[in-house]
Amino acid sequence: MRSLYQRRYLDLLGSIYIYNEHRGYTAIDRVLEAVRTRWPDDHRLLAQIEKHRADERKHYLMFRRWFERRGVMPFAVDRTCGHIDRFVGIMFRSSIDDLDPMLIVKSDGLFERLCRVISLTEKRGHRQVAILLRHPIVRSDATLTRIFRIIEQDEPSHWAPYDAWLAANGRPAPRWWERVIDGLIHSELLLLKLPILFVSPRLGRLAEWADAGEPAVSTAAVPALAA
Ligand SMILES: [Fe+2]
Ligand SMILES: [Fe+2]
Repeated sequence: MRSLYQRRYLDLLGSIYIYNEHRGYTAIDRVLEAVRTRWPDDHRLLAQIEKHRADERKHYLMFRRWFERRGVMPFAVDRTCGHIDRFVGIMFRSSIDDLDPMLIVKSDGLFERLCRVISLTEKRGHRQVAILLRHPIVRSDATLTRIFRIIEQDEPSHWAPYDAWLAANGRPAPRWWERVIDGLIHSELLLLKLPILFVSPRLGRLAEWADAGEPAVSTAAVPALAA
């Protein structure tokens, strides 16, 4: 009974993470395209965002490999479990898919808001991973623990380019109310959605991987999972 409970908890945790990692790198692709258009010569900024994109893709693949080894597909969680979906929705009154990154980069005011949203999301993610790494159920899974350690190391370089842009352009750091929104979204996900999903008997699993339409990669060579 206890192991069934642990297995469902880890499956659900992994499902929420793999959704967010995929959402992360596909959204960054669109931001990158827009930043390349507006600041084509800012090679440093572009390289940092490209690294961020590559890391989120790597994180996605680590979770995919983890699921493949478990022999199950992730639960079909949707955008209501996406931290960045909810945050962008509140801050821009638009879904990520409907948001036009070209319009955002044309306006310094909108781009600074986007930088703060990404920065807060990454910092929140970093703190959450530190908590998970102390969680006994997470620690019972050696591979998952290695995945979270890698994410913990990667995360600081993820908020750096956005914080640097804000500082270099004399823009304010995240405001108190933006932090409150970030905190509320996180609490809602952790204290409301996760428990509801945990007891939902009809929660189905994905029929195919979220990156099924993207260029194929082998997850066998994904770092941290060799053992
Ligand atoms: Fe990530
Ligand atoms: Fe990240």
